Parts: sequence; structure tokens; C-alpha cells
Amino acid sequence: MAAEKTFYLETFGCQMNAHDSEKVIGTLIEQGYRQVESEIEAGLILYNTCSIRDKAEQKVFHRLNDYKRLFKEGKRFAVLGCVAQQEGEKIFDRAPYVSLVSGSASYRKLPEMLARLESGEERITGLDDRQTEETFETEFTARQSPYRAYITIVEGCDKFCSYCVVPYTRGKERSRSSSSVLAEARRIVDQGYTEIQLLGQNVNSYRDPEGKCSFAELLATVGQVEGIRRVRFTTSHPRDFTRDIVEAIDQTPTLCDHVHLPVQSGSARILKAMAREYTPEWYLERIAWLKAARRPISLSTDIIVGFPGETAEDFIATMNLLAEVEYDGVFAFKYSPRPNTPALTMIETVPDEDKTQRLHVLLDRQREIQKINYSRQIGGVLEVMVEGLNPARGQIVGRSSQNKPVNFTWPHAIAPAPGSYLRVKITEAFPNSLAGEAV
Ligand code: SAH
Ligand code: SF4
Ligand code: F3S
Repeated sequence: MAAEKTFYLETFGCQMNAHDSEKVIGTLIEQGYRQVESEIEAGLILYNTCSIRDKAEQKVFHRLNDYKRLFKEGKRFAVLGCVAQQEGEKIFDRAPYVSLVSGSASYRKLPEMLARLESGEERITGLDDRQTEETFETEFTARQSPYRAYITIVEGCDKFCSYCVVPYTRGKERSRSSSSVLAEARRIVDQGYTEIQLLGQNVNSYRDPEGKCSFAELLATVGQVEGIRRVRFTTSHPRDFTRDIVEAIDQTPTLCDHVHLPVQSGSARILKAMAREYTPEWYLERIAWLKAARRPISLSTDIIVGFPGETAEDFIATMNLLAEVEYDGVFAFKYSPRPNTPALTMIETVPDEDKTQRLHVLLDRQREIQKINYSRQIGGVLEVMVEGLNPARGQIVGRSSQNKPVNFTWPHAIAPAPGSYLRVKITEAFPNSLAGEAV
């Protein structure tokens, strides 16, 4: 009898990577593998890597080095994701016990690559330097969340922001057909999900290859699928953020009251150097549309501090934008030079201490803004979808349509199931969450 095929997979990075892993796991299971909980038990160890910041590739190499000893026990290794695509065959040189290196644009070939691995081949690559026009579609998705189902609708990126690796690691921008997206949305509902999150590095750059609908129309159509209660989408790019998206939100109650719209900087000069292709005014016009929506839309963003050439005035412009928009959430990062990117050749003018200081100033200010924003919800009743339990505090954990975490008490002995919806009266607010009681 052949030995049982087992695998262990660990995922780093963004939601698209997390969802890719769900599809990779589904593919492995389909190929007769069983998922196990640790490297020790697994015959095949896979790392789905991220390369967005902070010498990510070095971290992957350190990690692989730690597992050299496991290789001696006959285990095989695969490096997937953005570091795999970025470093390519160099991974075999630095970690010779790795057998498979594949970027996300080659996952549709995984069954074939796995067969070669099983036949004992040692250096298998799935690398794609922005050639492929195809998307990774599979019916074997091992969804890891009991309450939220992801659908990637756009893969890759063609924006080439000057600091970013994604166009090099995830390939050319390509969209799935709207009929395939809708078919998947219907299958997801049949499986019992009521919340769908549509994904893309620039989700709103969606262009239906069948030419049937725009992004806003796709949103509305998915939102109207029988049985769907919540539709989220991330990440939107300001450049492609059109007014009909706000109209779709206005007209479709299932589209959630939250838009993540990364601005990166409040300075026109820095935005230009970043090649973001919009000005602060252009961005703020889109924010004004969102603020004029019929329902209050929660806003969140990403910001980079310390980009090459960022002066104290540029940073103040970012702080002013923060005060003007009053976001409910901000992901802020210190600029980190990345391989292959145009910004790598720009002279870094902001010392690391200043980057750290700007990051702290920004996050402190944002905390104050969020305290005020979140406290506005006290006294209100929100529809919350249950995500799980916080046994330490004896509370149920859930999320509002605005994507705010809500911790609440529940009067009954048996806890509500993840994915169920409850009405919660908000009694307390914190800078990053709300608390209350089920009514
Ligand atoms: N496609 C999305 C998100 C890209 S990655 C967008 O365009 O908004 C997520 C975030 O990581 C980015 O929004 C940016 O704020 C940050 N990021 C990307 N590259 C970075 C770098 N080289 N240094 C620091 N932060 C970076
Ligand atoms: Fe990176 Fe810019 Fe593409 Fe976002 S839009 S993934 S920041 S290149
Ligand atoms: Fe990281 Fe690649 Fe996502 S670099 S953030 S895993 S697109």
C-alpha cells in the first residue's frame, strides 16, 4: 500500500493569498492529500509567501533554513506566492531541499506540478513573468471560514505604483467572467454562506471579459443573488473608483456600509512620485461621493510614511487629509524599498527614526479620530454577524455591516452559531471595537 500523502500549509500576506491557499488546499485534497496540523506530521510542507514589505524574502529564507533538519526526514518543500514568483529559481540555490517554486499566476497548473513532484522530480517551477491572461478557477475550494466566502474576481495588477512588488509577483491584471463569478456566488449560497467578499488587488478595475457588466453592475448583481445578506469588496483603487459604485451601494441593501480606499499619501507631490495617478483633490472628491451616500459608509485606508523625498510638509498634508476624511480604520506602513520596483532607485531621504516617529504621530492621531467615530455608535442598535466566541470574556464576537468588530453578551446558555445575524444594542465604544448586548 502506498504511503499516505499528507501536507501542511502556512499562509502569509493579504486576503488574496489567504483565498489562494483555500484553492490550493482544495486542489491538494482533490489530488488525494490529507491536511495535517504541523510540519512534523506532514510529507509535503508548503509556504504561501508574501513579499510586500520588510525584507520579506530574507524572512522566508531564514524560515526555510530552520526546516533543513526536517528535510533529512524525507519531507518535501514547496514555496508558493509572491516571494516564490519574485525570487524564482534562486530559491533552489539558497534552499536546495525545496522541490517546488510557484507564483500565484501558475496555480492552475498545480495538479500537473504535484504529479511531477510525486514522481520524484526535484526542481519544479511555476513562474510567470506577466505572461498569463488566465485566471485560477477551481471547483475545489476548501473554504476555511464558516461565515465568510471569498471570490477573487480580478487577479494581478497593471498599476505599477513605484514602490510596489505586486505587478511583478502576481502578473498581468485579468478579470474572471461575470457569469463564472455569479455561478460561484450561487454555489456559495447553496453551501450555506450569506456573506461574500469579492477580492482583487484593484477590485474595482474589474473588466468583464464577456463585456456583460461593469464592476458596479457586478456588485449589484451579486448583491441580488437569492440568499446573500452581505457583500464586501476589497481593495478599491481611487483611480478606478466611479460614482456608479456609490449608486450601487445606495440601491442594493446587501452591499455593506464600508469602503476601503487606500490613499497612501495626502501630498500631491508624493502621490506623483508614487505613480498613483491621482491628486488629493481627486481622492477627496470620491470621499465626498461616499459621504453623500444614503447610508453612512464607513471608510478605511492604507498610508505609507517616509516615501523617498517625503518632507515634513508632505507628512502634514497626509495628517490634514486624515483629519478631513475621519476614517474608521487606517493601515499605516513605513516605506520599505522592494526589489524590481522603480522607487528602489530613488534616494531614501527619510531616516528610519523619522519614519517610525511619523508612523507613531499618525497612528496616535488616528486613534483619537476613531475614539470619536466609534463612540457615535453608542445607544444605537446594529445588525451583527456572529464570527465566534471570546471565552475569556464570556462574550460573542461579531462584525457590523460597517466592518466594525462588536463584542457582546448573550442571555442564553447555547451560543449563536457563526454566520447567524443578531441585533445588538451598543453600550460601549473603543478605538477599534464596539461592545454591547444582544436585544
Ligand atoms: N492594491 C492595493 C493594496 C496593495 S498592498 C492598493 O493599491 O491599495 C497593501 C498596502 O501595502 C498598500 O496599500 C500600501 O499601503 C502598502 N505597501 C505596498 N508596498 C509597500 C512598500 N514598498 N512599503 C511600504 N508599504 C507598502
Ligand atoms: Fe501595488 Fe499599486 Fe497595484 Fe496596489 S495598485 S497592488 S499598490 S501596484
Ligand atoms: Fe503580499 Fe503578494 Fe498579497 S506581496 S500583500 S501576498 S499580493
